[in-house]
Amino acid sequence: MIDSSLFLTPSQGAEVLEKGGVLVFPTETVYGLGALATNSIAFSRVYEIKKRPSDNPLILHYANLEDIARDAELTPISRNVMETFSPGPLTIILNKKNKALLPSTLDTVAVRIPKHASALELLSLLGKPVAAPSANLSGKPSITDSITAREVLGGLVDGFLEGAEPEIGMESTVIDFTSNRPVLLRFGSVSVLKLINFLPDLQVPFQFKSIGAAVDMATPKSPGTKYRHYAPKGKVRILENGEIVRLGEKEAYLGSQNLPNSNHLSYQKQVLTNKEYLYYLYRFLNECDRRNIQSILLEKPTPGEFSETVLDRIFKIESKEIPE
Ligand code: TXA
Ligand code: MG
Repeated sequence: MIDSSLFLTPSQGAEVLEKGGVLVFPTETVYGLGALATNSIAFSRVYEIKKRPSDNPLILHYANLEDIARDAELTPISRNVMETFSPGPLTIILNKKNKALLPSTLDTVAVRIPKHASALELLSLLGKPVAAPSANLSGKPSITDSITAREVLGGLVDGFLEGAEPEIGMESTVIDFTSNRPVLLRFGSVSVLKLINFLPDLQVPFQFKSIGAAVDMATPKSPGTKYRHYAPKGKVRILENGEIVRLGEKEAYLGSQNLPNSNHLSYQKQVLTNKEYLYYLYRFLNECDRRNIQSILLEKPTPGEFSETVLDRIFKIESKEIPE
């Protein structure tokens, strides 16, 4: 059991961060593991807790666009995108103006305004950016429910901000605005078609070139994209969309089918839309780990909106070649 004094209101959470503490907080996408973006000791502790490679920078969370404009170079187009999609599940990479932001070695900064009542209240009270990666341990599935957040991080952090669980369940979309043309670095829950409508010259990763101009991502600009990700304990196999299999003992399935159970020990979650898939993917993987499931079947999403995001994540989960 976690000491209930660790569950904090926004003003208590802001105090913990001001004093150099590390705070777990919910956002509309996933839980974050936050520290003041200008406190190098707290910032390093986030890396230690997560066991995150030191070359992978963190997203800075803000309460409003004015504060972002003070710290980074907003261009007319990036301002326009933020005014349209924020607060919400969008992160943009900009050139840094405020040299006090960590890490000091980097000239660019990733910024986002979360659409989540308690996170926004915390950020408004602080009036300073909070650096936060997703709250999972490096390489493990992101955390989107409060039980897993407490199980994984209880005892490692200085507090948990109270508030609603993430309503989207998938990390933010990331767009880089520091080159001549905007580049999509990570698919998320902002519709790619809407983005391309808004940014006709948006470049997308090579394997998804059918939906926009391609860019070769062999040398990823977001360091985070090169590591193995989101991996549960069990072995993962990807099924074709519509492929029906029989579940064996201790096997788990996530997809659009309602499979015949061959054994009551198996576990499955049916998702009827890709939006539901985004919401349940990490919940499902964390539940598989809780049940110690050894074999996990993930069905490919139905073609259409958000299928790129689901495919991107399940390929990264399955990927065995890329070291953590
Ligand atoms: O929804 C989200 O984005 C969540 C919540 C907590 O806000 N955060 C999140 O953070 O997913 P994280 O650390 O798991 O992913 C951040 C991604 C990584 O791929 C990282 O490499 C990239 O953003 N990134 C951060 N700063 C960057 C920069 N200056 N240039 C390029 N990529 C950057
Ligand atoms: Mg992450």
